[in-house]
Amino acid sequence: MNKRKIISKKYIRTLVTAGPTAEPIDPVRVISNRSSGVMGYEIARAAKKRGHRVSLVSGPVFLEAPEGVKLTKIETARELKGKVESGLKKADVLIMASAVSDFRPAFFSKAKIKSAKPRTVKLVKNRDILGSLSKQARKNKVIVGFALETESLLKNASKKLKDKKMDLVVANEAGRGNAPFGEGKKTVYILDKAGTVKKLKNMTKSRIAGAILDRVEELCYTPG
Ligand code: CTP
Repeated sequence: MNKRKIISKKYIRTLVTAGPTAEPIDPVRVISNRSSGVMGYEIARAAKKRGHRVSLVSGPVFLEAPEGVKLTKIETARELKGKVESGLKKADVLIMASAVSDFRPAFFSKAKIKSAKPRTVKLVKNRDILGSLSKQARKNKVIVGFALETESLLKNASKKLKDKKMDLVVANEAGRGNAPFGEGKKTVYILDKAGTVKKLKNMTKSRIAGAILDRVEELCYTPG
């Protein structure tokens, strides 16, 4: 287990990211994904109810910010990266529920691309925000990420946990009858560094948020 200070402050400072990122092609078009933001907003709401001091960095979604939560809106993965890096300095916990767009258009066209002149859009890779956090930035923090997979769910999630040096990963399956996006009951798994896998079967996102925060709080108060 990591060397982690027992957090002795009155409250835990939690930074949550939520929703998709949108990567502009031209002034009217973006590359994005189906993330609704509901999971991240539920985590922010539940953390606030538990007395955490909560900052929420959100991509474009149609949700209302939970009361008492500091909301910052972003559009692109690069903007999100900047907000995570600065926000993490003042946080004990990072929960990355964002569906970060892995790619962005290599060029932004200032003029709308006309339908009569279709164009191939070249994509370049966005940096991995969690993966590129420095050792210093992670020091004494609890880092939680998500893994959205269409196959080999637990194997891929466990690899992400290790590669991105997370404390916990929440594994989510897309396809085969599972629709991870939006409201409704979902089945997810919480994996930790010790190899423990906890299945949360058919739960609302609000209950899943509670279960994630139970584990986060346990880690915050566990001596290294
Ligand atoms: N993530 C990130 N930066 C990225 C992409 C993802 O920090 N550029 C974070 C997500 O917020 C999530 C975790 O990493 O908490 C895993 O995201 P996911 O999209 O499942 O994984 P990828 O690393 O993008 O892998 P792949 O798309 O190849 O499955």
